[in-house]
Amino acid sequence: MSSPATSPPALSISGLTKRYADGTLALEDLDLEIPAGSFFGLLGPNGAGKTTLIGAVCNLIRLSGGEIQIFGRPGTGMAARRMIGIAEQEPNLDKFLTVYETLLYHGGYYGMDRSEASERAEQMIDAFDLRAKRDVEAPKLSGGMRRRLLLARALLHRPRLVILDEPTAGVDLELRHELWRYIRALHEQGTTILLTTHYLEEAEALCDEIALISGGRIVARDSAEGLKRTYGVDTLEEVYLRTVAGGRIALDVMEEVE
Ligand SMILES: Nc1ncnc2c1ncn2[C@@H]1O[C@H](COP(=O)(O)OP(=O)(O)OP(=O)(O)O)[C@@H](O)[C@H]1O
Ligand SMILES: [Mg+2]
Repeated sequence: MSSPATSPPALSISGLTKRYADGTLALEDLDLEIPAGSFFGLLGPNGAGKTTLIGAVCNLIRLSGGEIQIFGRPGTGMAARRMIGIAEQEPNLDKFLTVYETLLYHGGYYGMDRSEASERAEQMIDAFDLRAKRDVEAPKLSGGMRRRLLLARALLHRPRLVILDEPTAGVDLELRHELWRYIRALHEQGTTILLTTHYLEEAEALCDEIALISGGRIVARDSAEGLKRTYGVDTLEEVYLRTVAGGRIALDVMEEVE
């Protein structure tokens, strides 16, 4: 293996622009480099462009401009695709497949032969505590179980870059801590993690670097400590409030209620 100093970044984005068909400019000339092996947090308000950025990285949306490389490979190719595991913000599970089949077919799609995919599926079922639901279809799972299945599927083909779009939204406290433990262990084994979350304490506890995104642009990037120092504040929440938050809910509409 090459040394970290010479290995290409896990993710290299330059000049990324995305304008949706209806004219919405979701990302504007965005540059971002994430070193291999990093645990990287992407924070920003609703509509900032986080999910769009992830969609672009995973080749799920058409770019309006810019370039993306995954471990030095063009983001549009199959090699890049196989190096990424993604758990999307909206659980997109096939409603006719059982937990086991979901994982098995995913393995097949990523080039595993049937016995390897089956063995790995069973491993993930145990790792994510889904044994009792192995033969149950996705719609019959609880919300938290669906999240676990999404994560199991994202990790099944042993990707080098794991992208998690709000993996702990709506997840109970115990499961959140379990997911953290699992993701941390994965990171310690060398996997690069890109995480979006609205839980700032989660980002602070897990991420070694954080980028703040607003209006389709990266507005700050550093370790949590570095960000706090730069803005002269004690918490990441204060950094967030100073960099990306704006008053967006009009309170004057409430006046008529009295
Ligand atoms: N398919 C689409 N067509 C048009 N506009 C879109 C589409 N998908 C997203 N957008 C717009 O792009 C912008 C960025 O959305 P995006 O989903 O990337 O935000 P986000 O940072 O992930 O927000 P959240 O925290 O709410 O998940 C928003 O203005 C959104 O309405
Ligand atoms: Mg999103």
